[in-house]
Amino acid sequence: MNTMWAGRFQKQLNSRVNDFNSSIHFDCRMYKQDITGSIAHATMLGNCGIISKEDAALICKTLKEILTDIENGVLEFDMNAEDIHMFVESELTSRIGDVGKRLHTARSRNDQVALDLRLYLRDEIKELSSLTCHLLDVICNNAEQHACDIMPGYTHLQRAQPVTLGHYLMAYAQMFARDVRRLDDVAKYMNVLPLGSCALAGTTYPIDRFMVAELLGFDSVCQNSMDGVSDRDYAIELLSALSIMMMHLSRFSEEIILWSSSEFGFVDLDDAYSTGSSIMPQKKNPDIAELVRGKTGRVYGDLMSLLTVMKGIPLAYNKDMQEDKEAVFDALDTAKICLELFAAMLDTATFHTKVLREAVSKGFINATDCADYMVKKGLPFRSAYKVVGQLVAYCIEHKKTLETLTLEEYKAANPIFENDVYAAIDPDVCVACRSCYGGPAPESVMAQIESMRNFLKELY
Ligand code: ARG
Repeated sequence: MNTMWAGRFQKQLNSRVNDFNSSIHFDCRMYKQDITGSIAHATMLGNCGIISKEDAALICKTLKEILTDIENGVLEFDMNAEDIHMFVESELTSRIGDVGKRLHTARSRNDQVALDLRLYLRDEIKELSSLTCHLLDVICNNAEQHACDIMPGYTHLQRAQPVTLGHYLMAYAQMFARDVRRLDDVAKYMNVLPLGSCALAGTTYPIDRFMVAELLGFDSVCQNSMDGVSDRDYAIELLSALSIMMMHLSRFSEEIILWSSSEFGFVDLDDAYSTGSSIMPQKKNPDIAELVRGKTGRVYGDLMSLLTVMKGIPLAYNKDMQEDKEAVFDALDTAKICLELFAAMLDTATFHTKVLREAVSKGFINATDCADYMVKKGLPFRSAYKVVGQLVAYCIEHKKTLETLTLEEYKAANPIFENDVYAAIDPDVCVACRSCYGGPAPESVMAQIESMRNFLKELY
């Protein structure tokens, strides 16, 4: 292997070290960004008179050919190249000789890799955001279908108050919408051009960094060359945003896992999105949801890897930073497949509205509404709370529910009760009355869906 820095060295690189040092097997993913960045760089060099316009044109034309050849499978990556940057440059030089050797003027792989990664992440964020929006769309459709279907809402996993399935689902929609906004913010912070920082100390050539920024669609230019090549905070921010999103997906997965158990029986997953057991013929397992829950740990791990890699390295570039890419790529791949399959699983799931409704009639889920009924008749809330607590204890002792108590039994607890108590504690009425802004009533759910759909429309 004839390394690019051969001039300074007397010996060949040890082959194990060569493998250890090399990153082409993972950074080859950034070939498109590397070539795009080089085309902008060469164009700027030509425009600023640092290389001739003809040389710049030939470099750009050849780089485009290299890109096409890679995309058509005509050109394969040479795994002996140290990294994608060296691969593209040596391919260019092998095609156009000395002219190709002019490309790396006023540039270092340090600012080049920082550029490639920003460009790559910018593209990936668009994909992640559109996958998240698709999931939001699926949630909205399900929520609309189930805007009126009542079910128990839980605290401490104990039945608490009735809500609608639409409301339950839209709670997750709110979380994923914030995830989309977070991704958007990360993309904005990241959209600053590092190229021109060179190795660490800028350059003496009269480069025009603002021109490169414009060519590549960056909003601004890194103000400090040492910062430009040294930080990976934008990748850490992205992995933080992905970790939060995976946490949301994982909680939703946990619901699906619980709800698809016989104990709950709230949801049935489509056969195409569940798996069987090798020994128990009756089994239908929610593997997708379980894997999403499991893979959340993996994305957290990627975030921790990157934070740990970065925490002790002095300015400016250090080779430790090559370790950023595998963590970032793994988190991206994991989040994308999880978003895609979770959305498909949800889209094909069947909710058992009858079971959800039956679950509402158990567990004194309307006890708060019973207390509220008394409050509306003039009793202070704390006194009403106590009366209903005693009624619940009475019901448990006599195997009754609030719905099956007689008016005499109610009146024995407190004379304020009238026949209209039965309507007030009807679960449908309880839910319908919770029509305050952000509440679970069907009309409120429909308003949430409309606002979410407007948000999605504005994005695309
Ligand atoms: N493969 C390297 C990385 O991913 C590119 C930058 C190499 N720079 C250097 N001075 N060795 O970080």
